[in-house]
Amino acid sequence: MATKLLLSFAICRLIVTVGLTVDPSELLRLGVDGQLSVDPFDIETASLDFGLISRSEPMAVLHPGSADDIARLVQAAYLSSQGFTVSARGHGHSINGQAQTNNGVVIEMSGGSRGSRLGLGNLAKQQVAVKEMHVDVWGGELWIDVLRRTLEHGLAPKSWTDYLYLSVGGTLSNGGISGQAFNHGPQISNVYELDVVTGKGELMTCSEEKNSKLFHAVLGGLGQFGIITRARIALEPAPQRVRWIRVLYSNFSTFTGDQEYLISMHGKPSTLKFDYVEGFVIVDEGLINNWRSSFFSPRNPVKISSVGANGGVLYCLEITKNYDESTGDTIDQEVEALMKNLNFIPSTVFTTDLPYTDFLDRVHRAELKLRAKGLWEVPHPWLNLFVPRSRIADLDRGVFKGILGNNKTSGPILIYPMNKNKWDQRSSVVTPDEDVFYLVALLRSALDNGEETQSLEYLTDQNGKILRFCDDAGIKVKQYLPHYTTREEWMDHFGDKWDRFYQRKMEFDPRRILATGQRIFNPSSGSTSTVSPW
Ligand SMILES: Cc1cc2nc3c(=O)[nH]c(=O)nc-3n(C[C@H](O)[C@H](O)[C@H](O)COP(=O)(O)OP(=O)(O)OC[C@H]3O[C@@H](n4cnc5c(N)ncnc54)[C@H](O)[C@@H]3O)c2cc1C
Ligand SMILES: *[C@@H]1O[C@H](CO)[C@@H](O)[C@H](O)[C@H]1NC(C)=O
Ligand SMILES: *[C@@H]1O[C@H](CO)[C@@H](O)[C@H](O)[C@H]1NC(C)=O
Repeated sequence: MATKLLLSFAICRLIVTVGLTVDPSELLRLGVDGQLSVDPFDIETASLDFGLISRSEPMAVLHPGSADDIARLVQAAYLSSQGFTVSARGHGHSINGQAQTNNGVVIEMSGGSRGSRLGLGNLAKQQVAVKEMHVDVWGGELWIDVLRRTLEHGLAPKSWTDYLYLSVGGTLSNGGISGQAFNHGPQISNVYELDVVTGKGELMTCSEEKNSKLFHAVLGGLGQFGIITRARIALEPAPQRVRWIRVLYSNFSTFTGDQEYLISMHGKPSTLKFDYVEGFVIVDEGLINNWRSSFFSPRNPVKISSVGANGGVLYCLEITKNYDESTGDTIDQEVEALMKNLNFIPSTVFTTDLPYTDFLDRVHRAELKLRAKGLWEVPHPWLNLFVPRSRIADLDRGVFKGILGNNKTSGPILIYPMNKNKWDQRSSVVTPDEDVFYLVALLRSALDNGEETQSLEYLTDQNGKILRFCDDAGIKVKQYLPHYTTREEWMDHFGDKWDRFYQRKMEFDPRRILATGQRIFNPSSGSTSTVSPW
C-alpha cells in the first residue's frame, strides 16, 4: 500500500516536471518488484557522489527488486513521448557526477541510502560455479561481497581494484585496475558474460560469442549502452597469504626501469614474477603519514632526508607475492631471488605478511581511520591519467618535480605500468598507443584547513595545469575515469575510436537516455531517434 502511494506520488512528480506523457496507469502497471521513491533522503543521496564536487537532483530513485524492474523502467523512458533520463548508480564513487542525472530517475544498483542492498540481501543468489571457476553476480554487487561469497568456495576473482566498496557494474563500466592488471588485465578482461538492459529497455545476455557487439561496447562503456544487471566473473583458487613489500628509490628512471622489468614477466611461471606491482610518489615528507603509508609507521619510520632524496621526491615500489601455508617454506627464498634483480636503495625494504583478504581490503582500513577524523567525506578532485611509457619521465620532471613542487599533498599519488596486450581493443575503453602505459593517479582530498595548497580551488587549478602541461608537451595521455564537458574533448579522448563509440550509442541507446552524467551525449526529447545528439 505504502509502495503504491509512493509510486503514484513519484509518477505525479515525473509527469509534472519532465512532462512524461506515458499513461500513468500504464506506468503503475509496470508494478515494480522494488520501490520507486521520492523520499528526500534517497533523492539527496543520489544527487551526490564521492567527489563531492558536482550535484544534480533526480526526480525519483528506483530501488530495483529485479533486472525486470530495470527493463520496465528503461522501456517506459524509451517509449515515452518526451523521454526521461535513467542513470544506474553503483556505490556512487564517481568524482564528477557520472552517475547523477538531473530530473531523471536514478537506479540505486547497490542500495543507496537504504543500506539493505539487493545484492547483499540476495547474497545466496550469487552463483559460484566451482568447476567452471566463475561466479554470477548482481550488477550492483560490491566487490567486497563478491570476495566474501567466492571465498566460501576457496576461490576469488583474479583482477581487482585497490578498494573493494565499489560496484561490479561501476568498475566494469570503466576498466577496474590495480596491481594485478599487468598480469591478468583489468577487470573488464576477466568477465565471461553479462546481462544488460539496453537503452531500449531490452534485457539481453551477451558474451564474446553472443551479442558480442553489446558485450564489448558495455565493457569500459561509461554506462552509455546499457545497465549491467549480471556479470559472470572469472575466478582462481584464492591464495591464503600475502607477502607485501615496499622499497624506495630516489632515481626515477631506476624506479620505472624496475617496474617495467617486473611487468614484463607477466607470461612467466608464477615463481618468476610478483602477483601485484604498483608504486607511488612521495613528494613531501608529510605524505609518509598519509592514508596509504601507515605501512611505514610507527614500527617502520622513514625519514626522507635519511635516504638522500635531494630533490625531495622519492618513489616507492609496492609488490606482493601470494602464497599458501603449504608453500610457506619456500616463500622467503622465492621473494629473495626476485628482489635480487631490483635496484632499490638498500636498507629501505619494508615487509608485511598478512591474510589475502586483509591485503585486498587494505584501503577500507584507511577509510575507517579517515572517517574517524572527518577526512573521508570531503571533496576529492581526483585526476587519473594513462601515460605512454615513452613520456613517463616527462611527467616526473614536469609534474612530480615541477607543478607539484614541494606542496603538501593530502592523498596518494600512484604510479604503475600495465601491459596493453592485456586490454581487449574491442572494448570501449581507450588507452595510449604504446605497449606499456602507466597509471598516474593523483588521489588528493581537498581540505578546509587554511592551507592554501590543499583547498579545492588550488587542487582543481593544479589539475588543469597538469593537463595543459601534457597537452603543450605533446604527451598523449588518456584520462581514466574520464571527465569532459564538450563534444570536442570527448571526440579527442576517443580519437579514432569515436566513430565506433558513436555507432554503438545510436544502436543501443538511440534516445541517449542512459548515464547522461558522463556528459557525452544529450538526450533526445522528441520521440524519434533522428534528432541530433548535440
Ligand atoms: C576510494 C576509491 C578507490 C578507488 N580505487 C580504484 C581502483 O583501485 N581502481 C579502479 O579502477 N578504480 C578505482 N576507483 C574508481 C571506481 O572504479 C569508479 O568510481 C567506478 O565508477 C566505480 O564506482 P561505483 O560502483 O560507485 O560507480 P558509480 O560512481 O555509481 O557509477 C560510475 C558510472 O558507471 C555507471 N554505472 C554504475 N553501475 C552501472 C551498471 N550496473 N551498469 C552500467 N553502468 C553502471 C554510472 O551510471 C556511472 O556513469 C576508486 C574510487 C574510489 C572512490
Ligand atoms: C639515474 O640512473 C640513471 C641510470 O641508472 C643515470 O643515468 C642517471 O644519471 C641517474 N640520475 C640521477 C639523478 O642520479
Ligand atoms: C607549491 O608548489 C608551487 C610549484 O612548485 C610553488 O611555486 C609554491 O611555492 C608551492 N607552495 C607552497 C605553499 O609550498
